[in-house]
Amino acid sequence: MSNEIEAIKDPGLPVHVHRRADTDPKAAKKAERQVAILFLLSAAGTVLLIASYLFIPQDVFIFFPILGSTNAHQLFLGLGMAASLFFIGMGAIHWAKTLMPDEEVIIQRHEFRSPDEDREEFVKAAKDGAEAAGLGRRSLIRRTLGLSLGLAGLSPLILLGDLGPLPDEEQKMTSWKKGTRLVTDPGDRPIRPEDLEVGAVAQTLPAIAAGEHRKLSDIAKDAVLLIRLRPEEFNLDAERLSWTHEGIIAFSKICSHMGCAVALYEQQTKHLLCPCHQSTFDVTRAAKVIFGPSARPLPQLAITVDSEGYLVAQNPFNEPVGPSFWGRSA
Ligand code: FES
Repeated sequence: MSNEIEAIKDPGLPVHVHRRADTDPKAAKKAERQVAILFLLSAAGTVLLIASYLFIPQDVFIFFPILGSTNAHQLFLGLGMAASLFFIGMGAIHWAKTLMPDEEVIIQRHEFRSPDEDREEFVKAAKDGAEAAGLGRRSLIRRTLGLSLGLAGLSPLILLGDLGPLPDEEQKMTSWKKGTRLVTDPGDRPIRPEDLEVGAVAQTLPAIAAGEHRKLSDIAKDAVLLIRLRPEEFNLDAERLSWTHEGIIAFSKICSHMGCAVALYEQQTKHLLCPCHQSTFDVTRAAKVIFGPSARPLPQLAITVDSEGYLVAQNPFNEPVGPSFWGRSA
């Protein structure tokens, strides 16, 4: 025992160095003010979040040179939440590092298991409690309690109905129509075939009329990847080949497995890779699945150019985009 106490007295830790705030009241006051400022910034972030939620309408957009048109409601909600969480975290860390007690405390570990007497005491108390409550004898109470608990468990399921209207057919449709121009995302600039070099990839969206704004739910379905190969690199039947233009092929960017963005293109192998579960699609063979859990190719958008030489859709997608469980129909 005396050896144990000696080990605790001198556990071999390096000499403890006190922080400035531990020895200098001015430094402590300064640290306190810094922590308070960080918490105030966090509070300001929360106020911004609440104000954005209450006062910025959902359809207000702000234009930024690189980001393009951005939804102000969501932008300020995001900034407010980011500031609120970031500064409260920074404040807590700064507080802990500069002002909270900084002493090294050594305690011995004890056995996690409770002593036998405590365990026996607990079992006895539980049995006595059940006996006193009469659960064994009073079957009426036992059954009605079971019924009420069971029904209470069902109530969250009923509340699921509040998750919003079902998308119905909307989920199977995208905004792509015959003649819709493909525009850059971000930027909303129409694209000519010569804008894409061989090997290049670009994310595009359907063009919208001036003054209109896209809904997030539409962007989630409409995103299309353009990839340019040499025409002789395709291994497609005549119909699918006619859906390409000068080596440019367009696929839905929404993974046909679970709906992630298929965003990785391997230029050497000409494979598109979904980062979520590694489904791999062969671009040269109409995005055929060559690896991973996806059960079907990425839908291909038939493209051509309009009279001004800009890329346009020949038709809507020939099948629904996204995971198969979103529903399949033409
Ligand atoms: S969502 Fe793409 S592989 Fe699972």
